[in-house]
Amino acid sequence: MDKKENAARRALELVRTGMALGLGTGSTANCLVRALGGEVREGRLSDLRCVATSRATARLAEAEGLHVVTLEEQPMLDLTLDGADEVDPEWNLIKGGGGSLLREKIVAQASRQLAILIDDSKMVRHLGERWSLPIEVVPFGWKTHLSHLEDLGGKPRLRLRSDGEPFVTDEGNFTLDVDFSGAGAGRGLSVPETLHRDLLRRAGIVETGLFLGMASFLIVGTEDGATLDQR
Ligand code: A5P
Repeated sequence: MDKKENAARRALELVRTGMALGLGTGSTANCLVRALGGEVREGRLSDLRCVATSRATARLAEAEGLHVVTLEEQPMLDLTLDGADEVDPEWNLIKGGGGSLLREKIVAQASRQLAILIDDSKMVRHLGERWSLPIEVVPFGWKTHLSHLEDLGGKPRLRLRSDGEPFVTDEGNFTLDVDFSGAGAGRGLSVPETLHRDLLRRAGIVETGLFLGMASFLIVGTEDGATLDQR
């Protein structure tokens, strides 16, 4: 079985009948949504209320027969299950590769617990090792952030769709993918808390893909199965 599917199957251990769930976005979250749909159809789980972190996830969850509600209807969640792009040894995360980091963070912070599902290739020693940091910005004045991001040691790039137009998030924002690999010691992603704070101080930057100290469970899918650890 695929590593992501192994992680998704293992994550089902955390889900109980009657829970209010947050559903993440991306290929791993899709495996989880399909696995949950299977459990509901086979009668092993029932009475789930699910808040999706993207329109794409909401569509898939509905197609799987899950009961999708809004965050307004269900502002407190028991558990959110989501993927990540990178996870460091302290379980700090880079998220947003799938373009939904703002909704993902809002849903995660509305949840008592956050379970992160990854395959073993996503574990890194330092954030930013392989992945640029996605940053969600309002479209107005997006270019004004570029020099600021360069001053912080990053190389920003506007995320584009395959037709060359800017990628627009479900919230109507743009995404800047910022490569901090050349920032050097004491700067950029070597000090993620400082970087996150510096970025959010700037009007127009809505949220960053740094999810620091938020994960309560980490599920790592491998060829043979998956490990599940709790913080
Ligand atoms: C979506 O915006 C992201 O945060 C995803 O959770 C992340 O990109 C992982 O995606 P995959 O599960 O597709 O690797």
